Amino acid sequence: MLEKKLLTKRVGIVNPLSIDDYIKQDGYKQFKKALKMERISIIEEVEKSKLRGRAGAGFPAAIKMMAFAKEEAEHKYMICNADEGEPGNFKDRYLMENDPHSVLEGMLITAYATRATKAYIYIRGEYNKALSIMKWAVDEAKEKGFIGKNILGSDYDFDMEVRSGAGAYVVGEEFALIESIEGKSGRTRVKPPFPTEKGLFGYPTLINNVETFCNYPVIIEIGGKAFAKIGTASSTGTKLISLSGNVNQKGVYEIPFGVTIREVIETLGKGVPENRKIKMIQLGGACGPIIPEYMLDMKIDFDRFEDFESKTGAGAIIVMDERVDVFEVLHRIVNFFGHESCGRCTPCREGHPQLEILVKRFLNHEATSKDLLSLESLARVMHQTSLCGLGQSSPISIISTLGYFRDEYHDRIEFVGKV
Ligand SMILES: Cc1cc2nc3c(=O)[nH]c(=O)nc-3n(C[C@H](O)[C@H](O)[C@H](O)COP(=O)(O)O)c2cc1C
Ligand code: SF4
Repeated sequence: MLEKKLLTKRVGIVNPLSIDDYIKQDGYKQFKKALKMERISIIEEVEKSKLRGRAGAGFPAAIKMMAFAKEEAEHKYMICNADEGEPGNFKDRYLMENDPHSVLEGMLITAYATRATKAYIYIRGEYNKALSIMKWAVDEAKEKGFIGKNILGSDYDFDMEVRSGAGAYVVGEEFALIESIEGKSGRTRVKPPFPTEKGLFGYPTLINNVETFCNYPVIIEIGGKAFAKIGTASSTGTKLISLSGNVNQKGVYEIPFGVTIREVIETLGKGVPENRKIKMIQLGGACGPIIPEYMLDMKIDFDRFEDFESKTGAGAIIVMDERVDVFEVLHRIVNFFGHESCGRCTPCREGHPQLEILVKRFLNHEATSKDLLSLESLARVMHQTSLCGLGQSSPISIISTLGYFRDEYHDRIEFVGKV
């Protein structure tokens, strides 16, 4: 069995609109267990589990949790990042729509362990169904006494609110998200200070991805050590994969880290329609690298991907078959990120329109070798000097194809015979 359902075990079985059904299926049992544990023991279990954040960067969850836990303040905020604006990713929507209480249970465990006072669930503006389901779930949890004053008879008080975004991709970035909740336009801030020190309304704030939170009930249930045995040494547990593109069975699949990309595409996704050949895939979403077919036997693992100047990102795999033109894909990506740029820093604001002009020349077979040099240096400058992850990662698709598909760039130059 390639799939390992830890986070998605209730999907399709539990009624997402019924807290009673969730409770019947052992829901909130791990939160009740956590309430009886020492707070530090919960954090220690997370440390033992070696869980890494599932938003894309793979930051160790326990380090962030510990930094937030030690902060003393009147208000301590938590944010569940459910903005999921990146093309190719839809696994957070899947979790929220199908098992909302598992997200809340994970948040409650984290909140109790760190003495958080209030949480916001920030949901992408276009996710209307997820928004309604999460609001419903929060109301139900309040009625049952899982959220509110003296939770389940303890001395712990904790509040939760659901917020909706307004359609900007950049607001998924943690400081832009904080600004948005504060009622400002969603733009990032310079770090440090980090959100755990000075975040929402100036108070310590812990921000995690939806999928990250969903791991906490599993860690409490089986223990950090047992959790660390799943997956690989550096990437423990399971990963939700959003599989899309030229593949027969698109969808969300939960696999232990260590499964190869090819296994996901061929076994879970049932291969490419009409047995066409795979040309390339994009990993992580629109801001991820585009890699060739011969790399599909790589195991899904945060560090292994870094060896190849690549990354798992949030776990999207976009399959592109032999008919796909690299430059059409790049043009769409550059266009998307140029549109989503908030305009605050020069490399990203001014760089995207120039990238678009250059990529379009390759697309239209009008490029010169000077264009190739300009494209390469501009993509690297943007990657290295942009203020936030949007401008830093949007050129990754170009940088990766300049490495893996360089012949195609040369072919387009030779076609018009220019120098
Ligand atoms: C442009 C941009 C967009 C982002 N969008 C999201 C998003 O939609 N969801 C998310 O969880 N993290 C997103 N992130 C990452 C967040 O800033 C933050 O690191 C993350 O929520 C931390 O979660 P984790 O520690 O659980 O992985 C984005 C980052 C950048 C730079
Ligand atoms: S990189 Fe782009 S999105 Fe990020 S701060 Fe700069 S202009 Fe805004």
